[in-house]
Amino acid sequence: MPEARSGPVTVPNIRARKRKAGADPIVMVTAYDTPGARIADAAGVDIILVGDSLANNVLGYEDTLQVTIDDMVHHTAAVARARPEALVVGDLPWLSYHLDAADTVRNGAALIRAGAHAVKLEGGRIRVPMVEALVAAQIPVMGHLGLTPQSVNAMGGYRVQGRGEAGDRLNVDAGALADAGCFALVLEGIPATLGASISDAQDVPTIGIGAGAGCDGQVLVFHDLLGLNTGKVPKFVRRYADLAGEATAAIAAYAADVRAGTFPAESEVYA
Ligand code: KIV
Repeated sequence: MPEARSGPVTVPNIRARKRKAGADPIVMVTAYDTPGARIADAAGVDIILVGDSLANNVLGYEDTLQVTIDDMVHHTAAVARARPEALVVGDLPWLSYHLDAADTVRNGAALIRAGAHAVKLEGGRIRVPMVEALVAAQIPVMGHLGLTPQSVNAMGGYRVQGRGEAGDRLNVDAGALADAGCFALVLEGIPATLGASISDAQDVPTIGIGAGAGCDGQVLVFHDLLGLNTGKVPKFVRRYADLAGEATAAIAAYAADVRAGTFPAESEVYA
């Protein structure tokens, strides 16, 4: 049985976590606020990702293109105030690392000053100059390849990536990001065989979401795994609870008590 986390998790700890070298799988989950981060940390996850999925899961947007660096700083700070032992990774949102290296480093630094230990960005070879600029500024970078939600318009929807020859290109992208200094790579929405072959080929750990069991770790979205999202979820999601159902039932019980005049009771009022 793999050991749970012990003590604060650091970037070098994660960088060394290759399953082929005998390491335990990395556990990552998203969180967007202080209570969420406290819950994830108490559960012993290795990494809390303040994902730009903040957009869909918390702020009610259709896609992640709507969140700004200011939104991400606000929520990264809320997560950091939980003082988790887990490594905190802040997501660089769309257009915060696409213009030039100086703008990218400024935005990365804003997430670090908000309390992140590292940042994540989406894309392959094309991002190498930005990864190098961040690493040169001592900002650790996690890459993100495959189904990259910030590319929803370019991909024509949320579709599995890397089938056929596109898989070879993703393998090259993974190598380019690792060579540029990424300490870990998220692989999203790709065939399981490709997830396994990239994980095998690279010395940096891979963290999969819909990328199969061959990755060095797994990540799920907080609201998906806890059943806080009531709509349709992707095939790769496993729901471990139905918190939306439980919360609705609890609030309905409270409403019924108020309407029946049984809340508050004698013990719930000041003399
Ligand atoms: O923002 C996010 O939640 C993510 C994960 C899907 C990896 O980037």
